[in-house]
Amino acid sequence: MDDRPIGMFDSGFGGLTVARALIDLLPGEDLVYIGDTGRYPYGPRALEEVARFARQITAKLVAEHDVKMVVVACNTAAAAALELLRFEFDVPLVGVIEPGLRAALKNTSSRRVGVIGTVGTIGSGAYQRAAAELSRARPVDLTCAACPGFVEFVERGETGSDQVYVLAERLLAPIRAAEVDTLLLGCTHYPFLARTISDVVGRDVVLVDSADETAFEVASILADTGGGRRATKEGTRTWISSGDTATFERLGRRLLGPELRDVQGWVPK
Ligand code: DGL
Repeated sequence: MDDRPIGMFDSGFGGLTVARALIDLLPGEDLVYIGDTGRYPYGPRALEEVARFARQITAKLVAEHDVKMVVVACNTAAAAALELLRFEFDVPLVGVIEPGLRAALKNTSSRRVGVIGTVGTIGSGAYQRAAAELSRARPVDLTCAACPGFVEFVERGETGSDQVYVLAERLLAPIRAAEVDTLLLGCTHYPFLARTISDVVGRDVVLVDSADETAFEVASILADTGGGRRATKEGTRTWISSGDTATFERLGRRLLGPELRDVQGWVPK
């Protein structure tokens, strides 16, 4: 047994979709979540810069919070740095790209799958590479589209405005044209926009995200390594934001639920 907490991070609120799934699946585990809201969005930044942030946050989680595992709950950071982090840190690292893709591959019957993500994630080619790897036996036809601006709407708490609908209609046009049966939300912020996205692509397209599958992966690593917590009661949750802590608490609680409280501040150097 290992009573240390699980660490996780995102550029802001997006990773809360994964945190929700983790809390629901493994309620006895302690969790430390860092939302880098002071430096979001990661999507338009150079991958080297995102990798630097990911390294800094992982180092903080390991050194200051003694975490037993780190969940990179951000596609952009996973695309930029997962392999590097696995090389540099001595704890298991779980990303969201492969788990999300596995969920999409399980769902598709037409083998035409759409993936949407940030400019950084889509431009990195990480999904294209992972799809080639995971669907070698039965290849999929992957249509990728970057959706700049979606993350900013979520971070402002504007998840159902007319403006986000208009933007979605424009950005999701290639997905509609590709006639996919499954659309993978390849950014952890996007599940908060699921209703708008579904209205635009059509109700017959199944939206898939990485949250549950990532939580299952965490659970299976803990089971395989015997690293679960001796849980007698609900785990503790630590919330840290590099931006405005009151905003993180107010909006984060709306997005995640009542477990999100007592947000601590952090000023990255
Ligand atoms: N949630 C992050 C992701 O999954 C958003 C990145 C951003 O801040 O642009 O990619």
